[in-house]
Amino acid sequence: MKKVFSGIQPSGTMTIGNYLGAMKNFVKLQNEAECVFCVVDLHAITVPQEPEVLRQNSLNLAALYIAAGIDPNRSTLFVQSQVPAHAELGWLLQCIAYYGELGRMTQFKDKSSKKEVVTAGLFTYPALMAADILLYQTDLVPVGEDQKQHLELTRDVAERFNNRFGQTFTIPDPYIPKVGGRIMSLEDPSKKMSKSDENPSAYISMLDEPDVIRKKISRAVTDSEREVRYDEENKPAISNLLTIYSLFVDKSVADIEAMYEGKGYGPFKKDLAEVVVDGLSPIQTRYAELLNSGELQDILREGARKATEKSEPTLADVKEKLGFLK
Ligand code: TYM
Repeated sequence: MKKVFSGIQPSGTMTIGNYLGAMKNFVKLQNEAECVFCVVDLHAITVPQEPEVLRQNSLNLAALYIAAGIDPNRSTLFVQSQVPAHAELGWLLQCIAYYGELGRMTQFKDKSSKKEVVTAGLFTYPALMAADILLYQTDLVPVGEDQKQHLELTRDVAERFNNRFGQTFTIPDPYIPKVGGRIMSLEDPSKKMSKSDENPSAYISMLDEPDVIRKKISRAVTDSEREVRYDEENKPAISNLLTIYSLFVDKSVADIEAMYEGKGYGPFKKDLAEVVVDGLSPIQTRYAELLNSGELQDILREGARKATEKSEPTLADVKEKLGFLK
């Protein structure tokens, strides 16, 4: 059975970009692989966080994972800071990764540009991400397009370690969906949909109320002409909306184009809003139930126990190979 690992930062809102690009595939992979999913709170503190808000966001994200379909009995679901092996291997891999290669990460360049203060953690973040993945001898890492470069670095660091110290880590492959790997902003289809966009109309949160979703979709930018046709280059806005529609109803883009032939943007956007509302509403209901149930802490405690058990052999092997005393 293939091993799968992925993580999401508990940094507040989760967008339908996170859902369609990542989480939806986690749920799918759960049926065919041994899966480990993580709330990566150690990553979240690379930028300032309000402690109480972070604590709540971690619980919220765990609830959202389960509400979206992650079954904690089948998959391992845990919070990163509750398994110390992550911070530990993270440090060890900072001593394998090169300054130069970390400096080439486009996400670091984006996140650090125009900032007065940039933490060292924001810079070394990809080494921690590599540790997350490599601890579990992961074969496949389901992520959106924006994480591709971090995955390449993970592979390079793993190969470097294996070459120097002997076979230790499985070299993981990225699992980036062909459709949905990069969901774009509703305001500017040349930009990725992002929870950190200062304009909330640019994204749909997984927890947005139905009327908010309807409003955001009706105001979403479209392209010239009236034809509902997929053409990323000339019609990027409609192509993005078609992608979202297609993923929520599990139909091909071609099928949806056929449904709206000759109908124009109005009816298409109206239906899309209902498709998104219907797709998110069961998740939202389950999410609210979970947060009120008091089950989460127990689920996460058990998840941390399983993750610790799974990661222990790899960490012990790495420490032995690096020359640490037993
Ligand atoms: P994060 O928390 O920014 O995003 C979580 C996942 O959502 C995907 N994603 C998108 N996919 C498609 N379209 C979008 N607009 C979009 N926005 C976000 C991301 O690609 C990601 O898969 N560094 C990671 C978290 C992490 C991780 C890991 C991931 C830490 N350790 C180990 C995999 C394996 C991050 O910041 O994701």
